[in-house]
Amino acid sequence: MKKDKLSLDKIQAEIARNLTDAVTSREHPFRLMVIGTIGMQAANLRTVVLRAFQADRFLLTFYTDIRSQKINELQNNPNLTCLFWDQERQIQIKIVGKTEIEHNTQHTQSIWKNMHIGAKKAYLTLSAPSSIQNTVSNNLPENLLTIDEKLLDDQYFCMVHCEIKRMEWLQLGRSAHIRAEFQKNEFGQWKGHWLVP
Ligand SMILES: Cc1cc2nc3c(=O)[nH]c(=O)nc-3n(C[C@H](O)[C@H](O)[C@H](O)COP(=O)(O)O)c2cc1C
Repeated sequence: MKKDKLSLDKIQAEIARNLTDAVTSREHPFRLMVIGTIGMQAANLRTVVLRAFQADRFLLTFYTDIRSQKINELQNNPNLTCLFWDQERQIQIKIVGKTEIEHNTQHTQSIWKNMHIGAKKAYLTLSAPSSIQNTVSNNLPENLLTIDEKLLDDQYFCMVHCEIKRMEWLQLGRSAHIRAEFQKNEFGQWKGHWLVP
C-alpha cells in the first residue's frame, strides 16, 4: 500500500480482503497462521490452515482434532492469538479474538462429508494427538485404505471459530514502518489508531 494514500479504513479493509483471499488461494502467505493459546507454563504456538473468514463478522475458522492440546487450552481460556506474515510484502498481522468450538453439528458433518480422504487422516489417529508412542507411526487404523470412505468417523473433527476483537497491522518499509491497531468495542464497532512501529 502506498504511504500517501494510507488511511486506517483502507488498512482495515486490506486486512479483511487479505484474509478473504487467503481462504481460497493456496499460495497466499496468510493461508497459514501461527496460533497461540495459553498453556500452563507458557504460551503454546502452532501452525494451522485458515479455512474460512467471514468479513462481515470478522470471524475466522480453522479445523482441528477435538482431542488436541489446543482444544484443552481453549476450553480453559477461549482467547486466541493469530499471527500472519507475508515475506514478500513485508506485512505482519496479529489478531486476538475469542473462540467457540463447533463439534458434531450439521455444519461439521457436511464439511466432513466433502473432505478429501487425505485431509480426513488428520482427524483419524487412534490415539489423541500428542500421545507418546513407542515407534514411528502415523497411528492411523490399519484398514484405512480398504474401508468405505463413507464409514470414516468424524467424531474427532471440529472447527474453531474465532471472533476477532483486536487486529494489528505492521508493514515494514525502507523509509518507514507503518503500524496500526483496530479494536472492536462492546457494540461491535471498530475503532482504529496508529501505533509507533
Ligand atoms: C503447514 C502446517 C499446517 C497445519 N495445519 C493444521 C491445521 O489446520 N489444524 C491442526 O489442528 N493442525 C495443523 N497442523 C499441525 C499443528 O501445527 C500442530 O502440530 C497440531 O495441531 C498439534 O497441536 P497442539 O498439540 O498444540 O494442539 C499444521 C502443521 C503444519 C506444519
